[in-house]
Amino acid sequence: MITKKMNDAFNNQINAEQFSSYLYLSMSAWFSTNGLPGFATWMRAQAKEEAFHGDKMFDYLLERGGKVELQKIDKPKGKWKSPLDVIKDVAAHEAKVTGLINDLVDCALEEKDHASNIFLQWFVAEQVEEEASVGEVLDRLKMVGDNPSGMFTMDLEMGKRVFQEPVAE
Ligand code: FEO
Repeated sequence: MITKKMNDAFNNQINAEQFSSYLYLSMSAWFSTNGLPGFATWMRAQAKEEAFHGDKMFDYLLERGGKVELQKIDKPKGKWKSPLDVIKDVAAHEAKVTGLINDLVDCALEEKDHASNIFLQWFVAEQVEEEASVGEVLDRLKMVGDNPSGMFTMDLEMGKRVFQEPVAE
């Protein structure tokens, strides 16, 4: 059985992951309406990945005999000044999520919940990957600057991303 404190913390994180998915979906729409379909595809894949993160916690909580309590998802931002402005927001958001995952690990350690601690290590590693991948996009965007042909090429490359649900470890 999972403790109430850990159970609540997981429910909050399920909500945070779903909000991330919603935010990235909103960003995908922004890219679509601003002539960057490749970036839109990339953000759409990112949104699916976030929903998968939420589902992974949802399944784990049920497996532990916990109580899933879904919460209201906040309205995400819908307007940005430029592609760089969007990707800067993604980077800031991922840094925030890393902090939330670290807090969850702290909670697991305080509750002496070793199973949750092990489960959360996947998310710790995932955040390293996520921050690195958005950091790469950010660096490339800064290099492209206002160069239209550079942006066109980058958009084509961004459009190659496909989300594949990781197979069970
Ligand atoms: Fe679920 Fe991008 O962290």
